[in-house]
Amino acid sequence: MVANREKTKVEVAKVSELPPGQSKIITVGRREVGVYNVGGQYRAVLNICPHELAPVCKGKVVGTRVPSKPNEYKWGRDGEILQCPWHGWEFDLKDGKSLHEPHKCHLKTYEIQVEQETVFLIV
Ligand code: FES
Repeated sequence: MVANREKTKVEVAKVSELPPGQSKIITVGRREVGVYNVGGQYRAVLNICPHELAPVCKGKVVGTRVPSKPNEYKWGRDGEILQCPWHGWEFDLKDGKSLHEPHKCHLKTYEIQVEQETVFLIV
């Protein structure tokens, strides 16, 4: 049986302080969580890379290559991919999954709620 742990609601920012393309790292207890506005959708991930525990949220938010015809290299998804600053692993901010091994490797994600123009992190 798994104990049911109470969740905590933490204020992150006012909506106006976190526009699309912006992010913020907040500390909750001993955890750091990166909160991102990805095209108007808020995403939150633990600031620990599953590879070698780098502070992944210090990495760049970038795009990536998207499916294309042979010998064509198309770029897309700008602003949706978090790139770890240590070795460059890429994670989809939508669900935290690694682009390279989505079924084996992912960032821990958290729920976000927006109430009355305030962004809250649920941990
Ligand atoms: S620690 Fe993140 S890619 Fe190596």
